[in-house]
Amino acid sequence: MRIDILTLFPEMFQGPMTESMLWKARDRGILDLRLHNIRDFSQTRHKNVDDTPYGGGGGMVMKPDVVARAIESITYEAAPGTPVILMTPRGRVFNHQTAVDLAGHEQVVLLCGHYEGIDERVSQLLVTDELSIGDYVLTGGELAAMVVVDAVIRHLPGVLGAEGGAERESHADGILEGPHYTRPAEFRGLTVPAVLTSGDHGAILRWRRKEGLRQTWLRRPDLLLTARLTLEEQYWLTEFANETARQSR
Ligand code: ADE
Repeated sequence: MRIDILTLFPEMFQGPMTESMLWKARDRGILDLRLHNIRDFSQTRHKNVDDTPYGGGGGMVMKPDVVARAIESITYEAAPGTPVILMTPRGRVFNHQTAVDLAGHEQVVLLCGHYEGIDERVSQLLVTDELSIGDYVLTGGELAAMVVVDAVIRHLPGVLGAEGGAERESHADGILEGPHYTRPAEFRGLTVPAVLTSGDHGAILRWRRKEGLRQTWLRRPDLLLTARLTLEEQYWLTEFANETARQSR
């Protein structure tokens, strides 16, 4: 998969994009990550990329001609339908399903805004989608783009080892993961649940699913509205509710 990132601050990507999983994905040839400095597409002597907003007000707006040239330097040779995504707090909120969908593309272009934003006509003419990573405002789209890259590449075949399949994790099937334990079996008076040392793989799988569901019920009950649950799993939810009712009596 190829990911092109358009930014005024390509150096910001140096650390995160050269470590750990991201580095592995690039090293194995699974991820072709390309950084482009939007400033390189300015045609003025001082390489200006922004200007004052029409109508007044504070801040600066990124100029449409510069950003358009930057985008088109990539899209002119990209397949039709290649997503061009603007990272912005006004975008659709990024989630697991969006990460899976993007991982299905051969190429994705991520555009990082800065200052007060980018001239609206860039969005109208060249951007196919706008994504936010949450309801808060960052100083620019760079950190948001890194979050998207990280979450997307985990779904590419060969990035995660067999031990950590992305489909087994929190959010993959609409519920959170349960707790994890490693040695020692007892730590400061707390013991590992007996089922995990029983060797009964069926019982372990069932326990993990149930505890994942318990975490979801406790912490993110909103997810249960759309999770696909078996009859037994729905029964567990009533168990959790009964246990809580007993405890509060
Ligand atoms: N740029 C600034 N804030 C952002 C956010 N929350 N998500 C994506 N891009 C942003």
